[in-house]
Amino acid sequence: MTTSNPPPDTSRISISAHYTGYVWYRHQLSATAFTTLTGRIANACLTPVNAFLRRVAGAGIDTFLLQRHLVLDHLIRQLIEQQGVEQIVEIAAGLSPRGYRFCQQYPQLQYTEADLPGMAGRKRRVLQQLQPEQRHRVRSCNILAESGDDSIAALLASLDPQKKTLIITEGLVNYFELPVIRTVWARIAGGLKTFPQGFYLTDLYPDFADHPSYRYVKLAQKLVGFFTRGEWPLHYASDHEIRAGFLADGFSGVEVHDPADFYQRLEMPRARTRTLVRLIQAQA
Ligand SMILES: C[S@@+](CC[C@H](N)C(=O)[O-])C[C@H]1O[C@@H](n2cnc3c(N)ncnc32)[C@H](O)[C@@H]1O
Repeated sequence: MTTSNPPPDTSRISISAHYTGYVWYRHQLSATAFTTLTGRIANACLTPVNAFLRRVAGAGIDTFLLQRHLVLDHLIRQLIEQQGVEQIVEIAAGLSPRGYRFCQQYPQLQYTEADLPGMAGRKRRVLQQLQPEQRHRVRSCNILAESGDDSIAALLASLDPQKKTLIITEGLVNYFELPVIRTVWARIAGGLKTFPQGFYLTDLYPDFADHPSYRYVKLAQKLVGFFTRGEWPLHYASDHEIRAGFLADGFSGVEVHDPADFYQRLEMPRARTRTLVRLIQAQA
């Protein structure tokens, strides 16, 4: 019998979900049930930093969080309405209200949220409180598990193989070194091939060393690392490199979106300088 090593425990990262969960709430995208005291305190602690960054760099941490969240929502809506996606899996969903909102808006959707066991348990309780009739499922998943009940493979095996399927990750990939997250991307690309059509959406913070606010990006990087007691590496130096990386990991039809391209279409905070986050849409 072969036994694989248990995956690394990265639950130290989960505090960041409390922060973003409270950001979505503060900007009227969420409900009180998704907020926590930890999120409220973390937001209060970072208010002066956000104000400082907005003044000197033309955009605060929340600017890029809102940009990524709202553009992802828009791309998801397009995939549902134009490509007929009926099944969504949001990995590392944290305290995001997206699954709740989308299930209300699109009753035909099968929505599964996944996260590390502790965060998944918390989310399950929140959703039970809001919708006792269980509109969507919550499962535990550790993206670093190569096999077993918490692996991506097990998560995808629990879905309906006949449905066009979308996997979303938001606020996850920059917590891992590039070689590590690339193995996860390859696993996602491989897993999606078993569905009639498979799509993947993620945000990504690239390493734009020539950006006028790069030194403030480095400051934000240190802050995130401090709060989550780990690293927060930036990945790829250009949109071209991102596209090439995703193609090499097994995806096709890779589109790299800059939030600035949506300024005319979507209501969201704008950065005074170039944007710093990218949204990747890929097919498998
Ligand atoms: C910044 S939060 C993002 C939460 C949510 N997507 C949002 O944007 O509000 C990062 C999330 O990644 C989850 N996470 C950390 N390590 C993970 C892993 N190895 N597998 C799956 N999820 C993980 C955390 O529990 C947390 O919910």
